[in-house]
Amino acid sequence: MDKYQNIRNNIIDKYSCLVDDESKFADSINIPLKQSFRVNTLKEEKKTVINKLKEYDSTIKTTEWNDNAHISELNNLGSSLEHFVGQIYIQELTSMIPPLVVKDLIKEIKVIDCCAAPGSKTTQIAAMMDNKGHIIANDARHARLKSLRGNLDRLGVTNTSVTLRDFKSFPNTKADLYFVDAPCSSEGTIRKKNTVARTWKENDYLRFNKLQNGLLSKACEMAPSGSTIVYSTCTFSPDENEKVVSETLEKYDLKMKNISIENLRSESGITEWNNESYNSEVKKCMRVWPHHNDTDAFFIARMEKC
Ligand SMILES: C[S@@+](CC[C@H](N)C(=O)[O-])C[C@H]1O[C@@H](n2cnc3c(N)ncnc32)[C@H](O)[C@@H]1O
Repeated sequence: MDKYQNIRNNIIDKYSCLVDDESKFADSINIPLKQSFRVNTLKEEKKTVINKLKEYDSTIKTTEWNDNAHISELNNLGSSLEHFVGQIYIQELTSMIPPLVVKDLIKEIKVIDCCAAPGSKTTQIAAMMDNKGHIIANDARHARLKSLRGNLDRLGVTNTSVTLRDFKSFPNTKADLYFVDAPCSSEGTIRKKNTVARTWKENDYLRFNKLQNGLLSKACEMAPSGSTIVYSTCTFSPDENEKVVSETLEKYDLKMKNISIENLRSESGITEWNNESYNSEVKKCMRVWPHHNDTDAFFIARMEKC
């Protein structure tokens, strides 16, 4: 048995009660993910890059729900010239979802990416903005800024300023859009080859919940009326997802927005877990389960400050 099998089994046991099809869920957790990427349109046209990459891997497929999310049978796109010169960015499919749920807003605006390193979403948003407007990409960990800066540079992003700060003490800054892609237990990444998931104890979920609450609260506190806040994690744990959103809804005047992506199968947020009930508005959150679209797992909420 490989060293991650116990973790996989625990995840299956713990969350099967939340899914529509337990056996498909369990099967998906045990199948490793293929490498996925997007074309960095700041550097080159999508069609040109895909045609070039098909010379190495003729099986490259584009997902039905995102015309710039591609899957490769190879596991070494990181050593391709296209990667090296910033024409592609290797990114989990679900990690591309948070910017897509606010596609309608992303134009020449001001964005704060509160927990930005290594910059998967910052670089994606910058490309969607065509390097216009302004992004502040913040992270609390100095060591991770190197990869963030490296990615911004490699991808030719020029509309982004990088800051190093615990976001909970970030100076109050008005923006149109805030992304809180929070540190979490990362259970949803269990299908990745070099997974970061490990066996978490109940206390760890509550510790993350506290940190996530602090980060999301800070974004809500500084957000001007009419601005949008997107909260996301890559974990299954309701304590880090619906519970955080529900607690935030009690503290701030926020309107939850319905979100969906055409051709991406997703489920609503859950309202009960561990004998606790959440604000019914959390049903508007999006849960992406691994067996529905052959991805890892993700949780996304879109809120508007009243
Ligand atoms: C899920 S990762 C972000 C991934 C990133 N958004 C991306 O798409 O590439 C969470 C990040 O939060 C950062 N972080 C942890 N605590 C923080 C805090 N108090 N303030 C700001 N960033 C924090 C971590 O260093 C980590 O880089």
